[in-house]
Amino acid sequence: MIEKIGVIGGGMIGGVLCQEIARRRLARSVGLVDIMPPDLAKGKCLDIAEGSPVMRFDVRMEGSKTYEVLEGAQLVINTAGVPRKPKPDGTLPTREELLETNLKITNAVGAGIKEYCPDAIVISIANPLDAIVYRLNQILAPPRGRLMGMAGVLDSARYRYFVAEAAGVSVENVEALVLGGHGDTMVPIRSACRIAGLPVTQFLDEETLQKLEERTRKAGGEVVKLLGSGSAFVSPAWSALEMAEAILFDKKKIVAVSALLDGEYGVSGLFIGVPAILGRNGVEKVLEIPLTDDERKGLDVSIEAVRKTCAEVDAMIQKM
Ligand code: NAD
Ligand code: LAC
Repeated sequence: MIEKIGVIGGGMIGGVLCQEIARRRLARSVGLVDIMPPDLAKGKCLDIAEGSPVMRFDVRMEGSKTYEVLEGAQLVINTAGVPRKPKPDGTLPTREELLETNLKITNAVGAGIKEYCPDAIVISIANPLDAIVYRLNQILAPPRGRLMGMAGVLDSARYRYFVAEAAGVSVENVEALVLGGHGDTMVPIRSACRIAGLPVTQFLDEETLQKLEERTRKAGGEVVKLLGSGSAFVSPAWSALEMAEAILFDKKKIVAVSALLDGEYGVSGLFIGVPAILGRNGVEKVLEIPLTDDERKGLDVSIEAVRKTCAEVDAMIQKM
């Protein structure tokens, strides 16, 4: 069991993360930082701690408005950002529109990690996911593999759920990968989708698959519209903890990760959702898997969308 997991942002996702880290006893202590007054982080930690006798865990919960609470964390999960919520006219902001707001937050997050836990493995969740983790990499410049983004595990879980629901089978029977950027250009990889080891096309027809793959791409927005305020928070937290456990328990687990590419898939210097092996050192290996021509074309479109957003990051940073 590691000494400390840091959580940055104690909002909807951060709150679930803190509860789950404690209940799963993933660390001896949790350090939560959130700037929200009067002291959201301290309040959420005290609430969880007061429930510890009922849930029988002795995990120290420490919340603060300032980053020193991250001191010595070996793993940090970053959720600090403004979530998507419908505009007054009912339309949804794109993740990119969140960019400027969340970039300023990310600059503070990066500075906090650099000062208090520069050697931590970092999983970033805040949107726009691929751009924020790109910015964090500029600030932290960690050894490759120790910084990653969480989106692909969530997007793949959504794809798996929709396939299981359509096929009338257990979610445990469905394997799937969604790659590329965490946006409307994400690519459900149908050729790798299996039900009990069998190709998904043996269970579902083309029309059904096209519909549920489009639903996967838009799944985040679907939840945002239903909630009316904020965005999905339980499934993203659980998805980040799937990655955290793979790292903490050195599982060598293959999952979809927003990882820094160095030539894989013909890309360098961008964080793209790809299949990767997660273990004690973070992203230990990026896997280049066979793709159909259409899947490769879709991935190229998604890579260009991420490249465009990261170029906007570079341009915005120049003006900050
Ligand atoms: P939330 O608004 O409930 O929580 C965000 C928290 O961050 C707030 O409590 C806020 O006070 C805090 N915060 C803001 N600036 C901070 C700073 N400088 N330092 C510390 N804390 C700070 O939002 P949420 O629902 O928890 O979502 C968090 C982020 O995750 C959003 O950007 C959202 O879009 C994103 N998200 C990503 C995925 C994904 O798949 N990657 C899925 C869902 C949501
Ligand atoms: C989602 C958005 C909010 O996928 O990133 O839920």
